[in-house]
Amino acid sequence: MADNPTLFSPYNMAKFNLSHRVVLAPMTRCRALQGIPNAAHAEYYAQRSTPGGFLITEGTSISPTSSGFPNVPGIYSDEQVEAWRNVVDAVHAKGSIIFCQLWHVGRASNPVYQPGGAAPISSTSKPISEKWKILLPDGSHGVFSEPHALTTAEISEVVQHYRQSAINAIRAGFDGIEIHGAHGYLIDQFLKDGINDRTDEYGGSVENRCRFLMEVVEGVVSGIGAERVGVRISPAIDHMDAFDSDPLGLGLAVIERLNKIQREKGRKLSYLHVTQPRFSLLEKTSLGESEEESVNLMEEWRKGYEGTLMCSGGFSRDSGMEAVAKGHADLVSFGRLFISNPDLVSKLKLNAPLTNYNRNTFYTSHPVIGYTDYPFLHTN
Ligand SMILES: Cc1cc2nc3c(=O)[nH]c(=O)nc-3n(C[C@H](O)[C@H](O)[C@H](O)COP(=O)(O)O)c2cc1C
Repeated sequence: MADNPTLFSPYNMAKFNLSHRVVLAPMTRCRALQGIPNAAHAEYYAQRSTPGGFLITEGTSISPTSSGFPNVPGIYSDEQVEAWRNVVDAVHAKGSIIFCQLWHVGRASNPVYQPGGAAPISSTSKPISEKWKILLPDGSHGVFSEPHALTTAEISEVVQHYRQSAINAIRAGFDGIEIHGAHGYLIDQFLKDGINDRTDEYGGSVENRCRFLMEVVEGVVSGIGAERVGVRISPAIDHMDAFDSDPLGLGLAVIERLNKIQREKGRKLSYLHVTQPRFSLLEKTSLGESEEESVNLMEEWRKGYEGTLMCSGGFSRDSGMEAVAKGHADLVSFGRLFISNPDLVSKLKLNAPLTNYNRNTFYTSHPVIGYTDYPFLHTN
């Protein structure tokens, strides 16, 4: 009998041959002044590259209305596409594969981030509750503002923005894109019944709530091909009020539709990326409270999805190894540990001690501090 795979076993993901299964999770780092990636980005991503490794970029704006954080890069203008090319080239020079995460925050924004100080857009006109705070450009925290609920015609325009951004990403040299459908942002604002209060064909039944995501997937696949497309969801994460009354059913509904697209196209998507139910972005969990419940949801989704499954959220070396060995995940993405350990892959392989991360510099704009100045185990 073949040995169980480990985090360091090779893996074939659609058209890409990965040499190991430790993936850089997408992480917003707020270093792109004026929305343009720069030399610091090239260094940051190159530091985390390994031959045959796989990186996913920070959430990247698909249009001028997409942002709700300071200094988020975009992929909608020619200048941004050109700037990303330098980053991608630096990563490819180290032998890694890199996908661009396409992001629209929807109502998780504020007029300071919107063109002309307009209201942010969403599936709904309900704002995020005041329990949650938005990081403003001056470093202070404010409230999320009341969004404009998209009309049906406006929804088609946003789908076009995803499609064009995917085409732009390929033009910049990216190997593919990840659709950010998780964590309470625009797509999740359609998926979750705790937010989506529409009465048209984009709201109500789970079928209708999945419609926007599926139109985005279809649009992007028609632009760049299924094998270059990953999808991220977090059915059991209620960050920014993104609560659903049936996370298991919602996850299975998305999975069923992705399977159908794959069968129809005769091609696999690159992967489905799921945030662990037990993980909370604020480190308290309200859903998937117990480890057991979390594992059950993940197992059901794993059983349902006919393709590569990537998991994220609170993984250590041991739990990552276990997830891969037991077949709960094909790939494991690491976030915070990859911030503070640029050579995380070799440290995990050697089981070497890991450097702790400093949360105070996650979202600051300095091009070096907390970004590219974490130490390597071996300097070479
Ligand atoms: C600083 C920071 C920024 C993040 N930004 C994003 C993002 O842009 N897109 C996304 O899908 N997830 C984002 N996440 C979530 C991570 O991708 C990951 O799922 C999370 O950190 C859990 O993994 P970890 O326990 O290995 O850190 C972010 C997390 C952190 C800590």
